[in-house]
Amino acid sequence: MKHKQMLAPVERFFRDKVREFGASHKAVDYNSTDAQEIRFLQLMKLLAGPEPFSINDYGCGYGALAHFLLDRGHRFTYCGLDIAKEMTDAAARLVPEGAAWHFVNDPKELAPADYTVVSGTFNLKLGAERAAWEEFVLACLEGIARVSRKGFGFNMLTTYSDRELMRPDLYYGDPLFYFDYCERNFSKDVALLHDYGIYDFTVLVRLQAPEGQKPEQ
Ligand SMILES: C[S@@+](CC[C@H](N)C(=O)[O-])C[C@H]1O[C@@H](n2cnc3c(N)ncnc32)[C@H](O)[C@@H]1O
Repeated sequence: MKHKQMLAPVERFFRDKVREFGASHKAVDYNSTDAQEIRFLQLMKLLAGPEPFSINDYGCGYGALAHFLLDRGHRFTYCGLDIAKEMTDAAARLVPEGAAWHFVNDPKELAPADYTVVSGTFNLKLGAERAAWEEFVLACLEGIARVSRKGFGFNMLTTYSDRELMRPDLYYGDPLFYFDYCERNFSKDVALLHDYGIYDFTVLVRLQAPEGQKPEQ
């Protein structure tokens, strides 16, 4: 309930954006598709190889990640979750014929998949208190770990941003805290990527080592 109240303004924000801009990077509050894609590229480092996979996209917007994967020749089934129904309605209209993509609006509807990724979803907190937002993020990560077989990944704006550019309506996560939290709670195989040229970091959590890559201890 607490989370629901905190998220209502976020849902309204993105609903209004998609009404205004339709299915475009502006609807998910990015200045360019480059800002989206550089994040997708980090998250996709989770993938083990060329084999087909299933993926959940937590806070999917208009499904840009699915199009990104398709354009790069991946074979996958996809479930996009978004809090804003108008966002998933816009996403559903863009599904290519025959693609096994579907969309939901409630995290309880997410089925287990090989991977779950979260891109940009934790950034906009609007008026929420930082501590409450952090508690919500951790609760989401617990849920995400439960529906991810091989691994999951998420990104966030970083506390290592330039002070004068930081905004009170955005959440900046501490990369060291999230690395440590994931390492202690989810897996010994955790990567922290903080080297892709924007004020953002990505955490990749591998729940199963890729085939043939687990060395003898
Ligand atoms: C910054 S946009 C990013 C969209 C997409 N991941 C991308 O990179 O193109 C964040 C999206 O997450 C959705 N969102 C925010 N909080 C959410 C939550 N708690 N559960 C599900 N979706 C959420 C918003 O409606 C919005 O579409």
